[in-house]
Amino acid sequence: MKGWASVLFLCSLLAFVACSRPDESSSPASTPAQAAAPAGHAGKGVGPIQSVQLGALDPSMAEKGKAAFEQKCAACHRFEERFVGPPLKGITQRRTPEWIMNMILNPVEMTQKDPTAKELLANYLTQMTYQNVSEEEARAILEYFRQLDGAS
Ligand code: HEC
Repeated sequence: MKGWASVLFLCSLLAFVACSRPDESSSPASTPAQAAAPAGHAGKGVGPIQSVQLGALDPSMAEKGKAAFEQKCAACHRFEERFVGPPLKGITQRRTPEWIMNMILNPVEMTQKDPTAKELLANYLTQMTYQNVSEEEARAILEYFRQLDGAS
């Protein structure tokens, strides 16, 4: 009897281990999905930009970004203070590069679908509109933001 009981015990233990296995093996698989979270502060936002490779700061690109910013963005944005839009100081620390570029290239859809951008619209009550910025210009503006935020 004692033998049977321990066999039964071992069997159920094995069954338990076997059953709990799929859970365990599925958790590492969910980690990359988490890293690519579509929304929120760490997300990439919604738009054409899937991935941005950042290198060392490129001062000449930042210079072009500054010119584009002054022409197309400064009417609504300051760095230190709230204006029509949010202050942009520290933006490269608050958001991913992809999120920033998607916000520049696709602001209306961002404020409709991205939870963070949605919240901003609710707070600022003005719709940021697309300013006819090319992808290259948006990348240059990002470089300008990186420079202002002290990247090197
Ligand atoms: C008409 C005014 C206006 C213009 C022009 C404008 N923005 Fe905006 N921007 C806003 C507003 C308002 C928000 C907050 C979201 C909303 O309400 O649409 C915003 C949000 C942002 C954000 C997100 C800020 C944060 O805290 O996450 C970034 C980045 C941004 N704008 C960059 C730019 C850049 C770069 C340009 C120029 C290409 C630009 N904006 C032009 C009004 C503007």
